[in-house]
Amino acid sequence: MGYKVAVAGATGNVGREMLTVLAERGFPADELVPLASRRSQGTEITYGDETLKVKALESHDFSDTDICLMSAGGSVSKEWAPRIAGQGCVVIDNSSAWRYDAAVPLIVPEVNADAVAGFTKRNIIANPNCSTAQLVVALKPLHDAATITRVVVATYQSVSGAGKEATDELFTQSRAVFVSDPIEAKKFPKRIAFNVIPQVDVFMEDGFTREEWKMVAETKKILDPKIRLVATCVRVPVFISHSEAVAVEFERPISAEEARGILREAPGCLVVDKHEDGGYITPYEAVGEDATYISRIREDPTVDNGLMLWVVSDNLRKGAATNAVQIAELLVNRQLIQPKRVAA
Ligand SMILES: NC(=O)c1ccc[n+]([C@@H]2O[C@H](COP(=O)([O-])OP(=O)(O)OC[C@H]3O[C@@H](n4cnc5c(N)ncnc54)[C@H](OP(=O)(O)O)[C@@H]3O)[C@@H](O)[C@H]2O)c1
Repeated sequence: MGYKVAVAGATGNVGREMLTVLAERGFPADELVPLASRRSQGTEITYGDETLKVKALESHDFSDTDICLMSAGGSVSKEWAPRIAGQGCVVIDNSSAWRYDAAVPLIVPEVNADAVAGFTKRNIIANPNCSTAQLVVALKPLHDAATITRVVVATYQSVSGAGKEATDELFTQSRAVFVSDPIEAKKFPKRIAFNVIPQVDVFMEDGFTREEWKMVAETKKILDPKIRLVATCVRVPVFISHSEAVAVEFERPISAEEARGILREAPGCLVVDKHEDGGYITPYEAVGEDATYISRIREDPTVDNGLMLWVVSDNLRKGAATNAVQIAELLVNRQLIQPKRVAA
């Protein structure tokens, strides 16, 4: 008998992708329950060949559900994850609500799979921010080879990372430009169509944004607390996939050729790095893919042991849904959970 799996936030950008990824990867689910707010109750949603009706999260009984993949935003997770976990259902949460709790593992399976065993403290596992997930997948094998000391990253983040209303805003504003309608900015602080915005999430007291802080805190928790990282997070008018320009400094020398060879063998990484026109990956090409693509690998001539990389991945897949499903697979494959209906 398989698992009973709930997806909370099933009507959202990430939730829909979760259903797709669960079906694509043949996750051993006997029953799948799509959940969202009361507004979406009864909405039909696709899961593989099936059409399912969305139920309201607040009236679902989790006592016979094994795993809940949550992507319904931070405040919903703060309130609901402990209640769901308290009913013996393991929560894999996509929001930032639990990522920095020392009793909650923050997992990218290619990087720190063993830490998942710590989930029993709260019955909650956190999924990182989309920008962090793809970054640490690329950094981990290089860190193992030459020990990273410092990272400087600039992100080029797609609008889907801010949810479905933000995705609609890019579409509506772009259309408005062509038909000379007035441009309205609701989800983003400035116009996003044909523009770039150097602000993702809110400002903090030190002048960094919360997204920039998240990349620092999460890289330390997942990969190594000794790594120093500084980020500039930028929203760009791209629908799906985040890109990152990354400068990495190491304790030991590492050549671009050596790094290319290491990354070619590394789990979750795909190197596309030809020194010719178009010999790199752009966000558009990464849509719908699970890999973290690495291009433009160069030695940095301005520091002793430095490399420059261009890192691209689909933020809804590896940055969210795929990573969450991989975590659920870890629980199953390592026999860390049993289906309740067998155990009973
Ligand atoms: N997008 C990314 O790249 C990404 C990556 C990593 C993590 N995340 C995180 O994942 C979460 C969801 O992101 P998203 O982009 O999928 O957002 P989204 O497209 O705006 O979807 C939000 C989902 O949450 C549901 N929801 C809202 N309020 C609810 C409530 N009170 N009770 C139950 N369900 C409720 C919505 O249901 P209704 O349709 O009924 O309103 C919808 O299904 C966020 O915490 C985000 O930070 C996103």
